[in-house]
Amino acid sequence: MAKKLKPKKRSSKTAARLTRPKRTKKTVRRRERAPEPAATAESMAAQQRSISISEFFAKNRHLLGFDNPRKALLTAVKEAVDNSLDACEEARILPDLLVEITALQQDKFTVTVTDNGPGIVRKQIPNIFARLLYGSKFHRLKMSRGQQGIGISAAGMYGLLTTGQPVEIVSRTSSSKKAQLYHVQIDTAKNKPRISVDQECDFELPTGTRVTITLKGKHQKGRQSVDEYIAQTAMANPHAGIVYKSSNGATVEYQRQAKELPPTGRQIRPHPYGVELGLLLRMAHDSRLKQLSAFLRKDFSRVSARLARTICQKAKLSIRLKPSKLTVHQAEALHAAINKTKIMAPATDCIAAIGAERLEEGLKAVVKADFYTATSRSPSVYSGNPFLIEAALAYGIKDGNGGDPEREPVMRLIRIANRAPLLYQQSACAIYRSVVDVNWRNYSVTQNRGSLPNGPMALMVNMASVWVPFTSESKEAIAHYPEIIREIQLAVQDCGRKLGAYLRRKKRVQQEMEKRRYIETYLPYIGEALQDILSLKQHDVILVTSRLQELLEKTRRI
Ligand SMILES: Nc1ncnc2c1ncn2[C@@H]1O[C@H](COP(=O)(O)OP(=O)(O)OP(=O)(O)O)[C@@H](O)[C@H]1O
Ligand SMILES: [Mg+2]
Repeated sequence: MAKKLKPKKRSSKTAARLTRPKRTKKTVRRRERAPEPAATAESMAAQQRSISISEFFAKNRHLLGFDNPRKALLTAVKEAVDNSLDACEEARILPDLLVEITALQQDKFTVTVTDNGPGIVRKQIPNIFARLLYGSKFHRLKMSRGQQGIGISAAGMYGLLTTGQPVEIVSRTSSSKKAQLYHVQIDTAKNKPRISVDQECDFELPTGTRVTITLKGKHQKGRQSVDEYIAQTAMANPHAGIVYKSSNGATVEYQRQAKELPPTGRQIRPHPYGVELGLLLRMAHDSRLKQLSAFLRKDFSRVSARLARTICQKAKLSIRLKPSKLTVHQAEALHAAINKTKIMAPATDCIAAIGAERLEEGLKAVVKADFYTATSRSPSVYSGNPFLIEAALAYGIKDGNGGDPEREPVMRLIRIANRAPLLYQQSACAIYRSVVDVNWRNYSVTQNRGSLPNGPMALMVNMASVWVPFTSESKEAIAHYPEIIREIQLAVQDCGRKLGAYLRRKKRVQQEMEKRRYIETYLPYIGEALQDILSLKQHDVILVTSRLQELLEKTRRI
């Protein structure tokens, strides 16, 4: 008889243990990963605090161009050189720059840039070199390489973060005064400078500045190298003399090509069309003027007394309203009225072009080619900011394909903004986009879809503006404003048309030469055939063939 299976009696403790999932390693791990208790407004509040600008950029150093050691070295040199050139031009001094890179270890360098500019007032040095967003160029609309007030302090901060070394500055503002030596470093938590050395010192120039930054970097040759940046800077700034001492001990001297300073372009006030609501409100609140009509007339360009009245009427605001009391609602009305009123385009004498001729000379100094052309557009406006585009093109560059005779090289694009070369982020730049979108096949060169054209050529494009709209704080690529893209394309197309005409002519010449060679080869046979068919005498054959030869010479157009 089969035994009836009786369920085993279990104690309540064992039952509970069995119903509980077994404590395996997996469950333990799962429990450890269990979500944290949900945050409450209060627990979140405990963590909410303001972030200093320098803390932000220390974490996001790629936004400032310090994403890898090679680029970091270039960015540091670029920030110091751009500042030196800006300062010299502003003080109307022909710039003489000494750029030195010294290797301390394989991945540690000092960058030293010395200029003969106006120098920097003692009190300002700590803030300029160890405080982000401190500068003289942000609050104005004037052509310059610097704009944001971040550049040199960011380079100093990168140096401090990677090597712990402060920035060293020597500056002298007058030949009758001693120079001042400072060692400063940024306190990132507070975005304020800490000064470790502040003393008088000797300086070989009557006025000028020397900045030394120690940083982790990589010094490498190539298209995006410091060497290339210095070469392109010399090309776009023929009025500057630059001595470059490389980390490998080599010295390159770029002598001054132009004995005069370029015109600097006038500072302008913002044009009402380019001002957004928030900025309009801030400008009104910051204005020292007492009446709305005066604010419109004096703090903006191209607004006459009559126009100011019309704008106020359209906005249904009193011309006597105090700008500092403007409400958001009133600012909205004012903003709308501005955009409904026809205002003359901004003055464009605030931009100084390099000039087509100078640009072409600059290109000639760097690349040897068979054909050069250049063009300079007249000024145009984007978002109320005047700008101007210039381009120069060289074709038939020797050894433009890196030594490979089989491979057709891709065009070399040199991008410049306010005389400062841009070496990174090419494909994100409006200049690249515009050049790629031009149909180069119209100009007798080949081009793969969505790429730069092919051929032994170099194209240099300069954008000059009172405010260059960069895509990020590292100032590497120009933003894609339709007005800017259009102007670049027009300039590039102009160079392209001239290149097309040159290449077509060159082709015609080649074909004609080929035909002539052909005829010349067959002339003796024609003589023989004529002798056979017409039974000509030998001296008649010579006569006929020499006549044909003469005719060939007479019709030679090249
Ligand atoms: N070599 C120099 N000679 C004289 N003044 C200088 C020099 N370097 C910097 N300055 C001053 O210091 C300021 C700050 O320089 P910084 O590079 O930080 O900002 P910027 O040049 O104004 O803008 P950006 O961030 O776009 O470079 C400049 O605006 C300029 O007034
Ligand atoms: Mg700068």
